[in-house]
Amino acid sequence: MLLGSGELGKEIAIAAQRLGCNVIACDRYANAPAMQVADYFEVLDMTNENQLQLIIRKHNPDYVVPEIEALAVNTLVEIEKEGIEIIPTAKTTAITMNRDQIRDLAHKKLGIKTAKFAYASNAKELVAVGKQMGFPLIVKPVMSSSGKGQTLVHDSKSLELAWETAIASARGKSRKVIAEEFIDFELEITLLTIRQRKGETLFCQPIGHEQKNGDYQCSWQPAELNKKQLSLAQSMAHQITQELGGVGLFGVEFFISGDDVIFSELSPRPHDTGLVTLMSQNLSEFELHLRAILGIPIPEITLQDSSASRVILSNSSIESVAYRGIEKALEEPNTSVLIFGKPDSKKGRRMGVALSRAKNIQEAKLKADKAAKAIEVFEL
Ligand SMILES: Nc1ncnc2c1ncn2[C@@H]1O[C@H](COP(=O)(O)OP(=O)(O)OP(=O)(O)O)[C@@H](O)[C@H]1O
Ligand SMILES: [Mg+2]
Repeated sequence: MLLGSGELGKEIAIAAQRLGCNVIACDRYANAPAMQVADYFEVLDMTNENQLQLIIRKHNPDYVVPEIEALAVNTLVEIEKEGIEIIPTAKTTAITMNRDQIRDLAHKKLGIKTAKFAYASNAKELVAVGKQMGFPLIVKPVMSSSGKGQTLVHDSKSLELAWETAIASARGKSRKVIAEEFIDFELEITLLTIRQRKGETLFCQPIGHEQKNGDYQCSWQPAELNKKQLSLAQSMAHQITQELGGVGLFGVEFFISGDDVIFSELSPRPHDTGLVTLMSQNLSEFELHLRAILGIPIPEITLQDSSASRVILSNSSIESVAYRGIEKALEEPNTSVLIFGKPDSKKGRRMGVALSRAKNIQEAKLKADKAAKAIEVFEL
């Protein structure tokens, strides 16, 4: 059972079915991408404890596989006690939904390097934090994703607004923010890390990415890390995922600044920047997730060539979506597009992704950019 049926869920569903699984796709709206390829679907509010419990009990799945953060995690804890496996574990799903919990675990418990940070529970506390930490600071709700409610703050005058912005966009009733030192990084990466039922923890080659307003725009693999940086990132990812436990693939995010490798956050599931692995690797992040869940061996992970992804965004609100320019986008060799199949769009919504492979990263990026640009999302 997939909790969340977006583009990542769709690829998980396809990978699961190719291994002979039946897939139940859940989301808050009908005809979501993963539902289009699943065996069964359910439309529900997955943050509602009763609704979630009812649907899980109705189907009694072998595995519950979260695809999104916003879930009724207390229900997952209960369900796990009843013997249904939550991927990677119910507790991990709960910890990673809250920036403070994963940050405390990584930094305070394991001593892993992060940006300097502090929490605040009201605007006055945030002003005190600003005074103590200095500027620039990034203020984020502890519960949010995709950059929602985040503000880069340069002076104490702007903290009040940053507090209000964070609280207005926070998920649920949470009234707590994290203020983080702004890291002027050279590169940010996702290290896909796989915890298997049997066998050691595996890593994919690091994925570099660019974000705008907290949303990923492009990614590439391999990212340009030296041996020391890579080994530091791997050892931190290993330490954190070992502490969290369970099986499956994790997307562990780091900032790279000189010799410093700084842990940022992690997804206990395939990562959007990892869509590039559909082009770059012998096994995509989705296939790796499934193999880890089902206890299927992963004899090797190989990178075919330098690869890149570029998102295809909608420019406007559209009720009945159609696409133009696919034939232009696919003129080049080793290029593909994934149209996610979202039934409607809002300005800036991610509707698809272009993927390319080439001799080097620069060429792969250029090809992916060109393909994405060729595609127009329009009202039918
Ligand atoms: N302390 C920081 N210093 C510099 N940049 C940062 C910092 N924190 C976040 N960012 C930038 O903002 C992006 C989004 O931040 P973060 O990953 O914490 O948010 P998110 O809402 O969980 O996003 P997502 O769900 O898309 O991963 C980061 O990928 C990075 O580009
Ligand atoms: Mg992130």
